[in-house]
Amino acid sequence: MPLVNMTDLLVHARGHGYAVAALDVVSLDFLEAVIAAAETCRAPVVVSLAESHFEHYDFELLMTAVVTACQRSPAPLAIHLDHGASLDSAVRAIRLGCNGVMVDGSHLGPDENRALTRTVAEMAKACGVTVEGELGYVPGEEGEDAERHPGEVVYTTPEEAADFVAATGVDCLAVSVGTVHGRMRGEPRLDYERLAAIAAATPIPLVIHGGTGLGDAAFGRLIASGVAKINYYTALADAAAHAIREAAAADPRAGYTRLTQRVRAAIQAEAERVIRLFGGAGRADELLAHCRPWREIDHVILFNATAEDDAVAAMKAAGREALGALPGVREAATGRAVTADARYRHCWLIRFCGEPVIDAYKHHPAHQAFADERFRPIAGDRITIDFERD
Ligand code: 13P
Repeated sequence: MPLVNMTDLLVHARGHGYAVAALDVVSLDFLEAVIAAAETCRAPVVVSLAESHFEHYDFELLMTAVVTACQRSPAPLAIHLDHGASLDSAVRAIRLGCNGVMVDGSHLGPDENRALTRTVAEMAKACGVTVEGELGYVPGEEGEDAERHPGEVVYTTPEEAADFVAATGVDCLAVSVGTVHGRMRGEPRLDYERLAAIAAATPIPLVIHGGTGLGDAAFGRLIASGVAKINYYTALADAAAHAIREAAAADPRAGYTRLTQRVRAAIQAEAERVIRLFGGAGRADELLAHCRPWREIDHVILFNATAEDDAVAAMKAAGREALGALPGVREAATGRAVTADARYRHCWLIRFCGEPVIDAYKHHPAHQAFADERFRPIAGDRITIDFERD
């Protein structure tokens, strides 16, 4: 299961002078293309899902495919929420399988950005999930013409960056040095001196948003100055759209599958191009040896209950709702023994996103309240084991 710890991936990249491509996916075509590109290049990739795109697809449904695709791939991969707006967004993304979350408070005032980022970072770190914050402001919107989303670049300053990292505890930091999200006319002028000063001020991996439209040489200079993750989307979307336009021009009567037949190959080709350009190609083996694998934990409780069936069912329903909402819990299910003579009649199956959640969950006030008030009083006869899968 080569989902790997995303911090390990990015720290390795910063330490070894390359950047991991963070590629936003918006459909199964994108997902398959991006993973095929990682596999062909034997490279790491951060599979990203941007909250601004959730109006275009069902995040929960696509995440099921993303997790399955990443788990069965031999490439070292991480799954990241891109531009998450709130604590709730981050909790939900982790529940659905993200092992990295971005909290984007870059449009807020400095104090509010700090407070929001720190809150998300505390929650995510208790789950072992990587957190990206953003300081400064990168205007534009991924997938759109930059001039349709005007806004001034707010540059990150090195002093603020060091303070922000210390105050919030983020694992990687998106910085603003002149890039813009989306399709641009001409190439932006980047402030490499500023970037080098930020890199000198903080050792954590730096992130560049708005990769589309930068020239090949710009990527090399960004990476040489401490950038370890480059977010890239619009050019993938444009490659997909171009493939559809060509198919439509070649056959105006073509149906959906004919129109989209070459979409995956077009996205994959552009993804491979940037993966190689960022220096990630051929690094899969060293990364799989270096990075901690991302492993879920099954928290299993077998119990007997000293209460009427209705009361047990009500207790289980309340627990599924309360425990299923806790940070780092991917699923909270209950069950009944099929055979009448089973040693234990009931069970909980709680799936944690990772080992750190064992502790965070145990001490969470909502878990303690449920356990003390609803569960333990009627379930004295029980055993509990945390399993990792073989
Ligand atoms: P582009 O769409 O400009 O490549 O930017 C992508 C991005 O930064 C996603 O967070």
